[in-house]
Amino acid sequence: MRSLSLPNQLTPIGERLLLYRAPAPRQTASFGDDVRAGLSALQKRVSPRYFYDELGSALFEAICFLPEYYLTRAETEILERFAGTILARFKGPIDLIEFGSGSARKTRILIGALLERQVQANYHPIDISPSALIDSSMALVAEYERLHVTAYADDYFEVLSSARLSTSDRVLALFLGSNIGNYEPHEAEALLCAMSAAFKPGDALLLGTDLKKSSKVLELAYNDPTGVTAAFDKNLLGRINRELGGHFDLDAFDHVARYDVVRGVVESFLVARRGQTVPIDALGMEARFVASETIHTESSYKFAADDVIRLAARSGFRVEQRWTDSEERFAVSLLVIE
Ligand code: AVJ
Repeated sequence: MRSLSLPNQLTPIGERLLLYRAPAPRQTASFGDDVRAGLSALQKRVSPRYFYDELGSALFEAICFLPEYYLTRAETEILERFAGTILARFKGPIDLIEFGSGSARKTRILIGALLERQVQANYHPIDISPSALIDSSMALVAEYERLHVTAYADDYFEVLSSARLSTSDRVLALFLGSNIGNYEPHEAEALLCAMSAAFKPGDALLLGTDLKKSSKVLELAYNDPTGVTAAFDKNLLGRINRELGGHFDLDAFDHVARYDVVRGVVESFLVARRGQTVPIDALGMEARFVASETIHTESSYKFAADDVIRLAARSGFRVEQRWTDSEERFAVSLLVIE
């Protein structure tokens, strides 16, 4: 039996907010284990899931305000324009489940529209970052009197397989912000398969995806001249220093983002400016770098309309409708379980 089901991990915070937290040992062990494995590999890597500690979440919020990072504004435009249309497709009441809710700013558009058509609503945000999850959940219950929130600070796959996501009503799941783009194609398929397996026929997924476009526009979006994205990327090293006793000099690395047109992916790297050896005390290891050696920190896949149709078909969904912003930069698709 997994420790998952221990009741003390489900904490009531006020009358309309329940918080489920992953067991702490699992959280810290995974960061250390992943950093050790990632920095010992031939192509060094650290997973983008570790961007989002408190500082990283704040830096991502700042990214969303950058003029070069159009994704958030384009998706917000789509939701503001079409939230009513999207919800009108469902007849009875619906429960919202959100993967990677972050600050839930865009979610408010849907929650607001939902509460105009039903007396109360259940919202289940799932986010790997407990701090962002608690802050946004508390703000939401304070803001919407008829909203009930059950928040899960855990890995998506864990929550989907744990049978904790008990929903009686029709489910509309939200996976916005092109967060799906962080997954390699086979992982994206596995995640959507886990969703379609956990939901019922007729349930739906609202999927936000950034569109394929020119390298110039994409590379600027991931390497802004203000340097916020570089700081966001380097915070991974800062987090290793803070949580694992690492000795990274953040000035000894450069942030680089390249669009691979063939694979349709922006890849981010931290590049060692010189050869160096970095002890990581808590892991009892040293990471050795030659000059110009890279750490892969993120893949941000881009999707043409066909890419979404193919992904849906492989994972038990069908694309029912698709909306884009006025400049055709971003798409929101409604995927339905057959
Ligand atoms: C939150 C994963 C969608 O890939 O566009 C922003 C994260 N990285 N700038 C993305 C990110 C660099 C973002 N996602």
